[in-house]
Amino acid sequence: MSDYNAAKSGTFKIGGDMEVNRLGFGAMRVTGDGIWGNPADRDESIRTLKRLPELGINFIDTADSYGPDVSEWLIKEALYPYKKGLVVATKGGLTRHGPNIWLPLGRPEYLIQQVHKSLRNLGVEQIDLWQLHRIDPKVPAKEQFDTIKSLLDSGLIRHAGLSEVSVADIEAASKVFKVATIQNRYNLVDRTSEDVLDYCAKHNIGFIPWYPLAAGDLAKPGSLLDTIARKHNAAPSQIALDWVLKRSPVMLPIPGTSKVKHLEENVAAVNITLSDDEFAALDAEGRKLFKAA
Ligand SMILES: NC(=O)c1ccc[n+]([C@@H]2O[C@H](COP(=O)([O-])OP(=O)(O)OC[C@H]3O[C@@H](n4cnc5c(N)ncnc54)[C@H](OP(=O)(O)O)[C@@H]3O)[C@@H](O)[C@H]2O)c1
Repeated sequence: MSDYNAAKSGTFKIGGDMEVNRLGFGAMRVTGDGIWGNPADRDESIRTLKRLPELGINFIDTADSYGPDVSEWLIKEALYPYKKGLVVATKGGLTRHGPNIWLPLGRPEYLIQQVHKSLRNLGVEQIDLWQLHRIDPKVPAKEQFDTIKSLLDSGLIRHAGLSEVSVADIEAASKVFKVATIQNRYNLVDRTSEDVLDYCAKHNIGFIPWYPLAAGDLAKPGSLLDTIARKHNAAPSQIALDWVLKRSPVMLPIPGTSKVKHLEENVAAVNITLSDDEFAALDAEGRKLFKAA
């Protein structure tokens, strides 16, 4: 088996029937600064995307707002026609007015328009997994959930998920459509969504942690994470990723990068096995830092 094989992270069936290797890829970073426009090194972004299937990655996360559109365009340019089994998940519901500016828009006609745009951008007839990027507080949530239900019913999207939501949001949405995935910020030192993760595990909903490599002060030289990383001859970010993967079988981390070297390093993290004691010690330390923050 190659040194780089995301299949070693195990598999998960999104929506109960769409199997992916648990270690995926986030395609937000293949765009320009502020997630705006073209990347500084377009060729390297394309090389990074082309490398994904070679490393066993078959789950890519993007959004219409990354660029905007640029991330979806580059995915198509690098990987179309898509290899059988490759799942490209996208999102809609955030508008862009400049670098690093993101504003929610959840009007049904806008969400439907964006799904049609993503279909065209990605060159597919059905989106494997479409996620509402944010519930727009200015639009009744039920209206947004009804729109998602209509997109599922029409077959434009196969599965649907939500991003940055609470357990109460998931319960409300689940009354309208089957929630396949949740995408919330989560890492060793950001444990805000522990209750959401536990809910997902209980209901077999895929939990997609964004910013999974972050470890904050835990990555400082001499820290516990640093010590464990040295013991495994690994980078602290690899151990942070391993910890996230070990945390739950429904966890589908999507570390993002615009560089082949970083991508390979992230995938190589699945070759490292954290012991239960290492996992528990990191867990305790991460919770302590999170509470203190
Ligand atoms: N739902 C949401 O609201 C939401 C919000 C943010 C992100 N996301 C999704 O989650 C994905 C991941 O989130 P993220 O990009 O914020 O966090 P991340 O993947 O934890 O970190 C990405 C950052 O780490 C760097 N990096 C990656 N691998 C590295 C390595 N091996 N060594 C050194 N640096 C490395 C990247 O820069 P280089 O390019 O230089 O490697 C980038 O700056 C995104 O791509 C996106 O798909 C979703």
